[in-house]
Amino acid sequence: VIDQLATDLVAALGEDRVITDRGALAGLETDWTGRFRGRARLAVRPASVGEVAAALRVCAAHRVAVVPQGGNTGLVGGAVPLDAVVLSTTRLTDLGAVDELAGEVTVGAGATLEAVRRHAAAAGLAPAVDLASRGSATIGGMIATDAGGIHALRHGSMRHQVRGIEAVLADGTIVGGSTGLATDRPGLHLPSVLAGSEGTLAVITRARLRLIPVWPERATALAAFGDLASAVAAARRLRDRLPDLDAVEYLDAAALALGAARAGQGDPFGRPAAGVGRGVASLLVETAARRSTLEELGAALGSLPGLLDATVVDDGPGRRRLWAIREGVTEAIAALGVPHKLDVAVPPAGLAAFVAALEPVVARAAPDARTFVFGHLALGNLHVNVLGPAPDDDRVDDAVLRLILEHGGSIAAEHGIGRAKARWLALAETPAETAVRAAIRAALDPHGLLNPGVLAP
Ligand code: FAD
Ligand code: MLT
Ligand code: ZN
Repeated sequence: VIDQLATDLVAALGEDRVITDRGALAGLETDWTGRFRGRARLAVRPASVGEVAAALRVCAAHRVAVVPQGGNTGLVGGAVPLDAVVLSTTRLTDLGAVDELAGEVTVGAGATLEAVRRHAAAAGLAPAVDLASRGSATIGGMIATDAGGIHALRHGSMRHQVRGIEAVLADGTIVGGSTGLATDRPGLHLPSVLAGSEGTLAVITRARLRLIPVWPERATALAAFGDLASAVAAARRLRDRLPDLDAVEYLDAAALALGAARAGQGDPFGRPAAGVGRGVASLLVETAARRSTLEELGAALGSLPGLLDATVVDDGPGRRRLWAIREGVTEAIAALGVPHKLDVAVPPAGLAAFVAALEPVVARAAPDARTFVFGHLALGNLHVNVLGPAPDDDRVDDAVLRLILEHGGSIAAEHGIGRAKARWLALAETPAETAVRAAIRAALDPHGLLNPGVLAP
């Protein structure tokens, strides 16, 4: 049987843009964690905004659902197709000239963060958002999820970086584009509408991003505290004392031990492995500036009540060793099994109470589970990772997400809602907010073709 959809897409885009081979599709059908699996009808890889528009027009004519996919590093199952067409952006990789005066650059949505970093670095500039998935995560995916990352405490999340955007609606209409002027702000801020929309409102094809200077000097510390409450109080004092604070990352004892082992390192504080106390809370703290901040960071740490131990470095290899521990945690957990990843946030003052309540709640929902907690502490953003429950057993997800709401927190901080949390979204917003979101979605995509099942069950 000749598939008319495939035939029409080949006619519109050319054969090399359309993938129907099941083996080639397999890598696009499962998320990074392996928890969310689906099936693609086929995939298209358009190489220009015109081709994206043409592909969407054909899919709309066939009333076929479309799932935009960038690097497929998302952690909430948002890019997994359920009998839909995958629109892969990985050919939309153009990198415009860096505007050094405005500190901006226009890039294709499929460009990886790493590619944009390298491109901007030649002008002494950098994108302000950084993530461990930088080698694969794309600018379009980062805007669509409103990614946060390790410097969000200083520079905000992805939505704060986008100065202009070009995108294609479900019916193939092209919107946005940018004159390239930093002051081009006519009316509705389209980047804000699309940031965090998770592929449900439009396919982002290009973005104009704000850039920041590459700081020549960085000092990095790993500091251990007796408990999380002391670590939170310490972070508060560090924010006051260090104007160049660039990262405050949290690792509980289990995450620290796992990250260190993954990085081929022993206990970073030089104790035998068993010496990492269960309650010990570690912070990876970094300052970045034009001048050296090593002494300032050391002095600020030295004044902290509750500090058990700290190591402070500013040389490249030393800093990389510390970051390898933090950035290795995600892969180390994934190597142990398929995790339930619960990215949540509570106001920092409530973090310790939430984590204290977490252990019994997880134990009730999943008695044999292993839990790792880490994240971006200065923003109250924790990643609760639970290993043990089967991928489709969502009792632990339900228990943790309800707990976070009881603590006045958010069920999604930086990874998005995707499919993973769609069923809990109604608990986190008012009926009026749900209605506003549905109305915007219906206005831009009346047939509900873009990423159905994401952001709404
Ligand atoms: P995908 O996974 O391909 O897609 C994600 C969502 O965006 C989907 O809903 C998809 O439909 C939509 N989408 C993708 N491209 C487009 C487009 N062009 N137009 C419209 N919609 C689109 N996230 C953080 O926030 N902070 C972190 O610190 C962080 N660290 C990570 C570390 C590791 C090791 C890994 C594996 C992931 C990490 N993530 C982090 C999660 C992930 O990298 C981010 O969510 C990233 O923004 C996803 O980008 P992507 O290109 O892979 O998107
Ligand atoms: C992180 O902060 O390391 C990322 O958000 C990835 C994760 O949550 O595993
Ligand atoms: Zn994170």
